[in-house]
Amino acid sequence: MEKIELLDAAVNSKPHRKWKLVTWRIFSFIAVVGLLSYLNRDQRRQWSPFRISSLEIADDFNWSQTNPSEHLVYTPCFEIYQCARLSVPLDWNSTSSNGPQVAIAVIKLPAPVPVTDTSYGGAILLNPGGPGGSGVDLMFREGQRISAIVNPIAAEKAPDGKYFDLISWDPRGVNNTTPGFNCFKDSLSFDVWRYQVQADTLDHTSDISLSLAWARSKALMETCAQDDQITKYMNTVLVTRDMVEIIERHAEWRSKQADMWLESRAGKSATNGKSQCDPYSHEAVIERTKWRKGNEKLQYWGFSYGTILGATFATIYPNRVGRMVLDGVANADDYYHTNWSPALRDADKVMLKFYQYCSEAGPEKCALNIGNVSASSLQQSVESLLSTIRKDPISVPGYSTRSPTIITYSDLMALFAEMLYNPLQHFAEMAELLADVVHGNGTAFAVYKQNNQKPTCPFGEIPDKDSGLCQPPDWGIEKKGSAILCADGIDVTNSTKADFKSTVNSSYQRSKFLGEYWSTITLPCIHWKVRPKWGITADEIKGDTSHPILWIGNTLDPVTPLASAHASSKRFPGSVVLQQDSEGHCSTSSPSDCTEGIVRNYFQTGDLPAAGTVCQPNERPLIGTITIPQKDLNFPEEHGLPLIGLYI
Ligand SMILES: *[C@@H]1O[C@H](CO)[C@@H](O)[C@H](O)[C@H]1NC(C)=O
Ligand SMILES: *[C@@H]1O[C@H](CO)[C@@H](O)[C@H](O)[C@H]1NC(C)=O
Ligand SMILES: *[C@@H]1O[C@H](CO)[C@@H](O)[C@H](O)[C@H]1NC(C)=O
Ligand SMILES: *[C@@H]1O[C@H](CO)[C@@H](O)[C@H](O)[C@H]1NC(C)=O
Ligand SMILES: *[C@@H]1O[C@H](CO)[C@@H](O)[C@H](O)[C@H]1NC(C)=O
Ligand SMILES: *[C@@H]1O[C@H](CO)[C@@H](O)[C@H](O)[C@H]1NC(C)=O
Ligand SMILES: *[C@@H]1O[C@H](CO)[C@@H](O)[C@H](O)[C@H]1NC(C)=O
Repeated sequence: MEKIELLDAAVNSKPHRKWKLVTWRIFSFIAVVGLLSYLNRDQRRQWSPFRISSLEIADDFNWSQTNPSEHLVYTPCFEIYQCARLSVPLDWNSTSSNGPQVAIAVIKLPAPVPVTDTSYGGAILLNPGGPGGSGVDLMFREGQRISAIVNPIAAEKAPDGKYFDLISWDPRGVNNTTPGFNCFKDSLSFDVWRYQVQADTLDHTSDISLSLAWARSKALMETCAQDDQITKYMNTVLVTRDMVEIIERHAEWRSKQADMWLESRAGKSATNGKSQCDPYSHEAVIERTKWRKGNEKLQYWGFSYGTILGATFATIYPNRVGRMVLDGVANADDYYHTNWSPALRDADKVMLKFYQYCSEAGPEKCALNIGNVSASSLQQSVESLLSTIRKDPISVPGYSTRSPTIITYSDLMALFAEMLYNPLQHFAEMAELLADVVHGNGTAFAVYKQNNQKPTCPFGEIPDKDSGLCQPPDWGIEKKGSAILCADGIDVTNSTKADFKSTVNSSYQRSKFLGEYWSTITLPCIHWKVRPKWGITADEIKGDTSHPILWIGNTLDPVTPLASAHASSKRFPGSVVLQQDSEGHCSTSSPSDCTEGIVRNYFQTGDLPAAGTVCQPNERPLIGTITIPQKDLNFPEEHGLPLIGLYI
């Protein structure tokens, strides 16, 4: 895993959050846009706001030594979490009772109260996007931040506050869920492939470049298809059925926990002599915690592609929607038509914001702004760089600690593909790197580029999946993602090279900065002949849900535009769009007390914001803080520490 630079997650800079006690880190990884986007590290999160991280948590826990079970049987794992492997049928349509199974890796951040407590609010499921993103990884990086958002704020002394378990999982074919889906035998062959791809970036003006991308994609997807265990059974519809299983088994677990407590000495003495109407009477506890088989509801927060997953769930199981926040909304109609380029409608406007903020921030806060110039002159300097660098790459001589390199058009595109997802975190760095190329000698950019080219593992070593120490970037993830999104979308295997060329062109017309990279996301689908057994079509995505959906869209999201949130909302009556007035992918890219308050209130009470509500972020890129009202997000004293493993 690349450890390029150590960045504190934006949220860690807020001292008032108790969960800061558990230090976690994001290792930023840098995109290197390649001919084949699905080999591009940045593309691996195509529709996910989160980076792939490598968190080295020393722990004895080992997924492969945990037995899969059709019940949720948790083991403490990764210091503060609980893990389980839930066994489900590979093929939900199979009637055979002993057919092949999938073992879903489930991870839970326990609520700070036991399930028997009146303030226990159930489980909220999370999906990080992708497709192909790891829910386990999401939990490591964002679990505690999300917990601080959805749970009550102590200072507000909400007497009816609810505390939630957070549950995420690695979807079919992803990371710790088995059987896995891999296309490379070892990390060396993966790296060699990856470097070739990086060197031949997709260029919409070059037929040679398009043909190389085409040929590589064909070779790779035909390889991946040989893994025929899981490929037919990775599509989104099956994952929604897995989610049903998770919420049902969670309810089973909840009721067992309650039974055990009631049988225990503590439970007996707590309920002893209480009248039926007392919330801690035996009857009331049973009533509150019992498994309503077949009727359990989903509480869910999905990001990016996770909004497709959520909308698909809401279509198939409208009566099971309890709470659903869909954040960074992808247009399901485009997605199920394998038509990704409309998603870029706002991408280049994020660059315009960059010039504007950089100009406003002045030379001290924005390195590109040499001489305190206007936004349009900043734009001009970047665009003139782009127009020359294709033909005139910059040579940067090596140094004792750095090899000689060149800076190319593709390197710049890789930079944009990474930075535009998260302006708040990255605009200052982007300004420095652009300044180095426009005004300097390329040294800083060369260092940045070199840092992104660290081998997956030392050459010759095969990474140990379980130790986490030399874990490859999730090699499969792009193909996992491709296998999922290609199976979801309409069959495009009859497309010609000319069709591909026009897809690239139309993506480029939408966005000069992300278009070429983005157009390669669906290229693998042309070479992916595997079709799912049970799928869904674009027209079907709609529904009258048992609780209305809360959609969240940023004013300028580079890959999931606000317009998609509004279009999606129309298909689900009663749902509401919350607009966050920020740039970047998903609301989480710009923390906002306002948005967080609305999300918390929605999970706590079910109430939606008024239609047309717009939230401001706490900070803006480069120009900084707006106002951050201080809030105490600690859990109430009386609840103390999470009761991990109490009744296990
Ligand atoms: C699979 O099962 C689902 C749900 O029961 C059903 O809607 C679907 O039509 C089935 N698909 C096939 C191919 O049998
Ligand atoms: C930049 O220019 C603006 C107006 O043109 C001026 O107000 C500001 O003081 C200048 N900043 C610096 C750092 O020179
Ligand atoms: C490149 O520029 C940096 C910063 O201005 C400077 O420190 C470095 O010596 C320069 N390197 C070369 C090879 O000119
Ligand atoms: C995890 O368990 C598997 C199977 O027992 C074993 O091969 C692997 O070495 C273990 N990993 C670690 C880090 O202990
Ligand atoms: C996969 O899960 C492991 C924990 O089992 C985690 O350390 C790792 O970051 C995850 N990998 C990816 C690529 O998400
Ligand atoms: C591919 O096949 C679909 C029907 O399966 C058809 O609608 C479409 O026009 C075909 N495309 C090409 C490029 O032939
Ligand atoms: C790309 O698309 C634009 C706008 O749709 C069109 O004018 C142009 O001719 C296309 N270029 C190619 C090479 O197809």
